[in-house]
Parts: sequence; structure tokens; C-alpha cells
Amino acid sequence: MSAEPIVYLNGEFLPQSQAKVSVLDRGFVFADGIYEVIPAYGGRLFRLGEHLQRLQNSLDGVRLANPLDDIEWDRILGELIKRNGGGDQSLYLQITRGVAKRDHGFPPDTPATVFAMSNPLKPVDAALLKSGVKAITLEDIRWRFCNIKSIALLPNVLLRQQALEQGAAEAILIRNGLVTEGSASNVFIVRKGVIMTPPKSEFLLPGITRDLIVELSQRHGVPCEERDIPEAWLEEADEMWLSSSLKELLPITTLNDKSVGSGSPGPVWAKMFDIFQSFKDDIRKTG
Ligand code: PDD
Repeated sequence: MSAEPIVYLNGEFLPQSQAKVSVLDRGFVFADGIYEVIPAYGGRLFRLGEHLQRLQNSLDGVRLANPLDDIEWDRILGELIKRNGGGDQSLYLQITRGVAKRDHGFPPDTPATVFAMSNPLKPVDAALLKSGVKAITLEDIRWRFCNIKSIALLPNVLLRQQALEQGAAEAILIRNGLVTEGSASNVFIVRKGVIMTPPKSEFLLPGITRDLIVELSQRHGVPCEERDIPEAWLEEADEMWLSSSLKELLPITTLNDKSVGSGSPGPVWAKMFDIFQSFKDDIRKTG
């Protein structure tokens, strides 16, 4: 493995410091692009088919043609994992509407900019899994198409920063009195023994981890409902979790300075966390 990470840019694998994008790239000027984050365990891409389907949905949502087919994505991302030393990594890929004179309308005949990088994926700190994390609720100030994984993340950045400045790890977002998701995660609660997470809609990103947790709960006979969660239910929740490709399934034990349930990670979380870890171990072994 070379000291400097290797990235992919427009058909080439390069040391990160040599990868350059024009200042006129529409990603830079307009945030006109979309992205994906895909974990790899033991060098194997996690739920690649699902991630590539969500990538296609995001591209369709912003009317960008997919510059590569699924076989090429698989090859490029696999190569990037290898060139960066294998093991557990998180892959980031981004597609923008390319380089063109600044003008809001789509530029004709402009190739997309395609960028991908990979970073070591570290397990979530064991101390955090034991204590859980703090979260705060904030108004969901984002646009209407949060199902598109757009690189225009300024609202998410501001919301996360506000949480951090209040000593919390995540902001849980509320739109019209209902929970949507976190600034970079999906949200689950446990209420009267039932796992609940908001249904998919334009107001939240259909998280790949979220979908897997729903799938695994069904497979293991743990009651789970995809349903609206009124803000008031957060205070009464027995357990609360967030999910994402980088944080996996993380318990929230304090919300707005009040304990969630017992104030410690709950038994339903512990069960689903174990099920999730075994699922990951199987990927490591068998792909
Ligand atoms: N974010 N909701 C939002 C707004 C997110 O940004 C993310 C993930 C999720 C969880 O999706 P998944 O389980 O597919 O990772 C939900 C990534 C990790 C990021 O922006 O870094």
C-alpha cells in the first residue's frame, strides 16, 4: 500500500494529491452533483447492488446520465479497495454535471466528472457503544428531495454543527411535527417493544443500513414498523438509535438533555446490533 491514498478521477487511478478538478466544475460552483458512501468489509463491498440502485435513483432525480454501468462501478470500486490496502474501508463516490462556463441551465455535451476515494473504516468506538450518544432535535430546514443523495449538504452541515456545539453527536430532524431522520443518519425508536422508523418518502434518505435493519428484524421475528413518528413519541421512547454506513447502529441515550428510556443502550438495540454484526461477518467470509 502506498503512503498516499489512491483515488479515481475520470478514468484514472491517481495519488490523491495529483487528482485535480477545474474550478468551473459544476460540483464546485453549484453543488450540482450526487454521491454515495459504500462500506467494504474484508475488502468486499457491502450491499453494492442496493447502493448502485440508490445511485441510479439519485442520478435520475437530478437528470444526470449514469456515466458507468454496474460492472464498471464494481470494477473501479474493487480496484480502489485493492490499491488502498483492502480490509475495511468506506468508499465515497461523486458524480457532478461536469466542467462548463457558469450558467444555471444544463451545459450541452459536457461529460460528467466522476470521482471516487476510499478511507479506512474504523469500528465505532466501543466506549460509545456502551454509553450511547447524545442527540438534540432541530427543525428540518432542508429542501423537498432529501431522498436524492445530493452533494448540496449545507443544511446538513449546519444542523450537524449546531448539534456538535451543544455537545451532541447528531441532530434528529423534525418536519411538520414528524421525525424525518438525522443530519447524516436514519432514526429508529423502540416503543412498547416495537421497532419504528419513518417510512420512505421525499423527506428522508432511504438508508441502506436502515433497510437492512428493517429486513433483519423481519427475518429474526422482532416486531418492526415503518410508520410516522410524531415528535412527542421521542420523549416516551424506550430506546432510540441512529443508523448509517459509517456509524452502523448507534444507540442514542440522551435526547435534549433528558435520558432516553433507562439512559443506557437497550436490549432491542443489543439484539439488532448482534444480528447486524453476524450479517457483516458473513459478508467478510463469503462476500
Ligand atoms: N450519510 N440520511 C442521511 C441524510 C445521510 O446522509 C445518511 C448517510 C443516511 C444513512 O444512509 P446509509 O445507511 O445508506 O449510510 C441517512 C453518509 C454516510 C454520509 O453522508 O457520509
